[in-house]
Amino acid sequence: MPWNPDQFNKFQQERSASFDDLVNMLNIREGLRVIDLGCGTGELTARLADMLPNSAVIGIDTSAEMLAQAQHYVRPGLRFEYGDLTTIKGQWDVVFSHGVIQWVSDHPHLLPHLFSLVTPGGQLLVQVPSNHYHPSHMLVRQLAGEEPFKTALNGWVRDMPVLTIDAYANLLFAQGGLNLNVFEKIYPHVLAGADAIVEWTSGTLLVPYFERLGSLRDTFVTVYRDRLRERFPNHPVFYGFRRILFSAIRPSRN
Ligand SMILES: C[S@@+](CC[C@H](N)C(=O)[O-])C[C@H]1O[C@@H](n2cnc3c(N)ncnc32)[C@H](O)[C@@H]1O
Repeated sequence: MPWNPDQFNKFQQERSASFDDLVNMLNIREGLRVIDLGCGTGELTARLADMLPNSAVIGIDTSAEMLAQAQHYVRPGLRFEYGDLTTIKGQWDVVFSHGVIQWVSDHPHLLPHLFSLVTPGGQLLVQVPSNHYHPSHMLVRQLAGEEPFKTALNGWVRDMPVLTIDAYANLLFAQGGLNLNVFEKIYPHVLAGADAIVEWTSGTLLVPYFERLGSLRDTFVTVYRDRLRERFPNHPVFYGFRRILFSAIRPSRN
C-alpha cells in the first residue's frame, strides 16, 4: 500500500498523545530487546528507544516509503528493517505497536501471535484506533458503495477488524496475560474545520481507497469533503478520536 509519509506526519502531534498513554504503561528496565511493529516513519520508535537505556530497539514495517523516512533515526541501539508483523518470528522483551493492527484482519488469531512474540516476563503494548463508527469513517464506507466509486473499487470496502475492549481483554487473558490494562479513550482533537479531517484521513484511512480508485481519486475526495463540510460546518471542529490501548505481561516460566 503506497503510504505518503508527509501526509501521515501532518497530524503527528495529535497522534503522539496516544503514544504517551501507551508508554505510560511500559515497565522501563535496562537492557531490553524491543520491537516496534509497524514503526512507520520511525519518529515514535526513536522516542521509545530514548526511554529505554542500553536497549536494542528494532522497528519493522512493510512500507518502503515509511522505512526510507525511518532510516534518519538509525543510531546505536536503534534500527529499522522490512518486516510483516503477521509473519514475523522471534521473541522480544517488549512488543510494541502503535496505530497499526487496524490494517490486519482476524484479531482473534492475531492476538495469540503477538503474544507469542513476547519473552516470558516481557510485555505486549498495543494502541489501535477504534474510530470506525465516526462519521468521518462511515462516510467513506457510504461513498464507496455509491457509483461511480463502487464499480471503480469493484465493490471493495475496507475491512473493520478492530474488536471491543472486552474482546481484547478476553483474548489476552486466554493467553495467560498478567497485569492486564485494557481501555478505550477519546482523544479530543480540535481541528480547523471539516477540510482538516479530510487531510487527516488522507494520510491513513483513505490510503487503500486511493490505491484502488485510479483516476476517480480526486472526485472521491471532492465528494467526501463536501459531505464532511455539511456534517461538520463549524470552525474549529471537534474531532473526538476513539482509540483502544492495552498492555499485558507474559507469565515467566516456572
Ligand atoms: C498509521 S501508520 C503508524 C506508524 C507508527 N507506528 C506511528 O504511530 O506513527 C501504520 C503503519 O503500519 C504499517 N503496517 C501495516 N500493516 C503492516 C504489517 N502487516 N506489518 C508491518 N507493518 C505494517 C504501515 O506500513 C504503516 O507504516
